[in-house]
Amino acid sequence: MRKPIIAGNWKMHTTRAQARELAAAIVSGCVGLSDRDVLLAPPFTALSQVSREVSGSSIIVAGQNVCWQEQGAFTGEISPAMLFDCGATAVIIGHSERRQLFGEDDKLINRRIHGALAAGLLVVFCIGETLAHREAEKTLDILKSQLHWGLTDLVGDSLASVIIAYEPVWAIGTGKTASSGQAQEVHGFIRAEIGRMYKKEIAENLRILYGGSVKPDNIDDLMAQPDIDGALVGGAALDAESFNRIINFTQQI
Ligand code: PGA
Repeated sequence: MRKPIIAGNWKMHTTRAQARELAAAIVSGCVGLSDRDVLLAPPFTALSQVSREVSGSSIIVAGQNVCWQEQGAFTGEISPAMLFDCGATAVIIGHSERRQLFGEDDKLINRRIHGALAAGLLVVFCIGETLAHREAEKTLDILKSQLHWGLTDLVGDSLASVIIAYEPVWAIGTGKTASSGQAQEVHGFIRAEIGRMYKKEIAENLRILYGGSVKPDNIDDLMAQPDIDGALVGGAALDAESFNRIINFTQQI
């Protein structure tokens, strides 16, 4: 049984005070929810505040990126130990904004994943196709390539600390969501591909999140799909009421 997980990616939003307030409101919204995980990824500057605010709850705190090195001359980077030091135990890697706006390629993402896993962080590894890929019917080829490159040289056991987030780039921040059927088709493909790369049991235990304009009004449909194990939420994660509604999605029995 895969435990659902709802993750909030706050991107480059919130001062420390705003982050504390938002985290406190989300803690109240999660009371009594033990059948699902909640993860919050505030900006680096607010990690400590958010960690303090959620302590005592089961909310997981994550960085939005991490360096593969332990320390050294890497201006602008954050090490795994620095994340742990701020109370984070997880990290998002390979987000499409990192790939598209900051030129992060599959090789760099693979290094980051290795570094994060070696340090003991839970990794949310993002993949997704652009609109041009989709229109050219290249979606599955692109996802397969991102999976293979991103997970290069990772042994099956380490997949226990990996969550995959499928985020079609054309659906991020645009208000356009993949239909739950479209998302399910891709999630099914990702799970099958992981089964081919590793083994079926590993694929069956892997959590695969959908991301891209997830909102209170589409979460229930998405979560009703057999291969969708949760959501990576951007815009709607910045509004406590919306995010709390998303966290409290209706569990299908
Ligand atoms: P969105 O962002 O929910 O605003 O589309 C999702 C993401 O980028 O993780």
